[in-house]
Amino acid sequence: MSKLILLSLEGKILPRPPFWFMRQAGRYLPEYRDIRKRTTSFLDLCYQPEIAAEITLQPVHRFHPDAAILFSDILVIPHALGQMVEFKESIGPCLNPVRTTKDLKGLSLINCDKKLSPIFETVKLVKEKIPEDVALIGFAGSPWTVATYMVEGGTSRNFVSIKKWARNDPNSFSKLINLIVDSTCDYIVGQVESGADVIQLFDTWASVVPADQFQKLIIEPTQRIINRVRQIKPKTKFIGFPKGIGTAISHYAEETGVNCLSIDSSVSPKFAANCLQPKFAIQGNLDPIALLVGGNSMLNSTSNIINTLNKGPFIFNLGHGIIPETPPENVEILANFIRSGGKG
Ligand code: CP3
Repeated sequence: MSKLILLSLEGKILPRPPFWFMRQAGRYLPEYRDIRKRTTSFLDLCYQPEIAAEITLQPVHRFHPDAAILFSDILVIPHALGQMVEFKESIGPCLNPVRTTKDLKGLSLINCDKKLSPIFETVKLVKEKIPEDVALIGFAGSPWTVATYMVEGGTSRNFVSIKKWARNDPNSFSKLINLIVDSTCDYIVGQVESGADVIQLFDTWASVVPADQFQKLIIEPTQRIINRVRQIKPKTKFIGFPKGIGTAISHYAEETGVNCLSIDSSVSPKFAANCLQPKFAIQGNLDPIALLVGGNSMLNSTSNIINTLNKGPFIFNLGHGIIPETPPENVEILANFIRSGGKG
């Protein structure tokens, strides 16, 4: 049986769009919260292949989407490089910030592969258990987004430390970006060799980069990752998610080598259909709040998106991740609606 998502990524137009949801495994699911209760550290979950595989498949069993996304996090890269990373209840990620050339000396590629090997194990376990027609999506953070957490020490409001470093000392800042590029390439190749069908690159904070640094900090590192992975695994398909960059997404699409653009909810489906879809597959872009609210407003917005984007290669998704307060029943209603065509 063929995996519909792979057909969309090859440019095929399908009778109904294949779908999956960003953050489809997570706190809105009671079966995830049950497992989460039993461990104190979120990162421990990511490094226990049996458990991480089970969590990856939880939404597949419930909603039968066309893809599963590996259960892990973008911050396993700084952790594997040797940075202290912790996820604190109701705060989020906390890292020991890296802000100077001297701080970079504490990071190293040497043990990355070994530290990340449980995640490759998870990919293999999921592949054994996943239905044949469901794709497995591997992922990584884009270098800029991963760097924001490494330099700011967590989620940031104004990104002052990283922007100062990138401006004041671009050479040493490049060393950090290069280290993330190198570790991410190995990490993605490991996921593909273990069985990931597609790779999504999350650039959640791409919108923070000033226009005059966009080429150097967003486009080039993404390009380097995609080119290098394809030197080793030529057929690797990439979905890029450069969140919040508006019409600069056209330039991102042309330059980076991605097969598909994941669009956030601020991008108009008409713009995506007219300007991007002639050459690229599109993924997106229901507002996660529409899913949280549910009802006709969710279904109407879904129909609008499908009517506009399913005339080309298209994967239905949200514009960003499922919010923890979302009722799982809404996700089920949405999944059934899309499966039946979603035309309203
Ligand atoms: O279904 C899936 O998408 C599961 C895998 C996944 C997680 N994080 C699990 C997770 C994926 C693809 C991510 C990506 C990720 N992680 C991104 C990019 C996408 C985005 O949301 O913008 C970013 C920026 C991170 C970093 C991160 N991880 C933050 C800021 C937080 C705290 C905020 C939050 O949502 O909890 C996390 C924690 C995290 N990652 C959780 C999960 C299920 C919750 C942790 C818990 O259970 O305590």
